Amino acid sequence: MKTEIFKITDTGRQRDEIARAAAYLKGGEPVAFPTETVYGLGANALDGDAVKKIFEAKGRPQDNPLIVHITEKEEIYPLVKEVTDGAKRLMDAFWPGPITIILPKSDIIPGEVSAGLTTVAVRCPSHPVARAFIKACGVPVAAPSANISGFPSPTEFQYVFDDMNGRIPAIIDGGSCDFGIESTVISLAEKTPVLFRPGAVTVEQLQEVLGVEVKVDRAVLNPLQAGKKAPSPGMKYKHYAPKAEISIVRGSFADFADYAASHTNEADAFLCFEGEEKSLSKPCVTMGSCGDPLSQARRLFDALRELDEIGARRVFSRDPSKKGVGLGVCNRLYRAAAFRFLGSPSSIVLGITGGTGSGKSTVCECLKKLGAEIIDADKIARSIVLPGSPVLKSLAESFGGDILLPDGTLDRKALAGKAFSSEENTRLLNSLTHPEIIKECNEKIAEKRSKCSFIVVDAPLLFVSGLDKLCDVTARVDAPAEMRLERIMKRDSLTRQDAEKRISSQKPEATLAEKADYTIENTGTPDTLAAKCTGLFNKITARG
Ligand code: TXA
Ligand code: MG
Repeated sequence: MKTEIFKITDTGRQRDEIARAAAYLKGGEPVAFPTETVYGLGANALDGDAVKKIFEAKGRPQDNPLIVHITEKEEIYPLVKEVTDGAKRLMDAFWPGPITIILPKSDIIPGEVSAGLTTVAVRCPSHPVARAFIKACGVPVAAPSANISGFPSPTEFQYVFDDMNGRIPAIIDGGSCDFGIESTVISLAEKTPVLFRPGAVTVEQLQEVLGVEVKVDRAVLNPLQAGKKAPSPGMKYKHYAPKAEISIVRGSFADFADYAASHTNEADAFLCFEGEEKSLSKPCVTMGSCGDPLSQARRLFDALRELDEIGARRVFSRDPSKKGVGLGVCNRLYRAAAFRFLGSPSSIVLGITGGTGSGKSTVCECLKKLGAEIIDADKIARSIVLPGSPVLKSLAESFGGDILLPDGTLDRKALAGKAFSSEENTRLLNSLTHPEIIKECNEKIAEKRSKCSFIVVDAPLLFVSGLDKLCDVTARVDAPAEMRLERIMKRDSLTRQDAEKRISSQKPEATLAEKADYTIENTGTPDTLAAKCTGLFNKITARG
């Protein structure tokens, strides 16, 4: 097949050429076009047969759904069942721009686009050429990235040409893409918003606009767990794979340089940040500057292709920061590296939570035997209200001097009576104590990092207190109510009534099951619990 190229530099003056490219799409053929993220390979989203040709041209697995591209916010309405409040907020804040929203689909979306799912992903790009092209098509345009499946997404015309020449009838050349990594993908199809793919719009920005917490799917930074179904099918493929075998060397540049120096003969090339190549001995490809994740995103896929061009078979790569847009950079890079990590891994911090009698302490004991250092959040909570402490002083100022015993120590019962008398008072108590607990806990983690690679934070209110933010991964311990009752009756010699009272007074965190990454069901014998702890330990420590 001959591929016609349309080079567009001025959408106003080149309307005819845009119309000619659009005519291919309207005739049921796929056309590649630039967007602000990466190049897309588009077809009429309402025509299942046209969409099939995208899958053929890319060699894409049939079960991986496509994003539908529109140019105006209103055009989302016919495509979905309902535009939720959250969706409206995101559309107002970020469209047109690099974010894709998943909602339950309407009947006009063909099964080829949604790959059999009940939802559809919709995006309104900001790139002027993408907008002019989709407008000229006059239909919503389904488009994945315009690469052969499994190769890095194309950020330049030349890469699209390399992958697609002869496979599709037309490519629009619109120069380089701004962001260089694909759009942020967020699902609003369930109660809690879930981030499936990080991009230029960050988790922090999403949370600010939505006003609720956004769950980051585990698969964003981890390989898909064996036997688990991928909520977003794209997660399960070994995506973004260059030919080179990349390994991430964890730690600072000094750690990297040390590791590289003692393993030089194993590597063909290094993937590093700008300026670092001066002190490295092998050919280097750079991926932006160290403190600037946007520049890393822009360079990443080009860098991966350059590594192939220089013929590197084995590559050692720096480990970028995961903050902000950095999460998107790590998501792509870790997949490109098939989650291979080298060097001394930085410590992993696990947050454990669970109600009284659930067996949380026993789980922590098990993990300690496996080499974990335990940080007890309750102990920290007690240490920050010792006589003379600033926190105790501000508690007395806010709740009155009668929360102090004659010797100046805290009267816990009196404080509880006041603080839990209303939601407002509880919030006040939390605002006075939680920041200090977080600060102390953070210091403890920093201290332990130097001597141990696995740290556990044992916290009854892991999520309410915000301590979960200090953790890489979280788990909750759960047990049936009757079992918990019996355990605390025996442990603390309580009557059934008192035990029931204590459990119900704890107000377990309602959405714990959704928030925690893992659940340990503590229902069996101590032996089975120990086996479960070992399983969890292996899973978490092997994750990178
Ligand atoms: O920036 C981008 O989003 C680019 C440009 C061309 O717009 N497009 C893009 O498309 O990256 P693609 O097909 O390469 O990636 C779409 C991702 C895939 O991981 C897919 O599994 C996921 O979005 N996805 C699409 N529809 C979904 C759905 N209904 N539910 C869950 N995941 C979905
Ligand atoms: Mg893709």
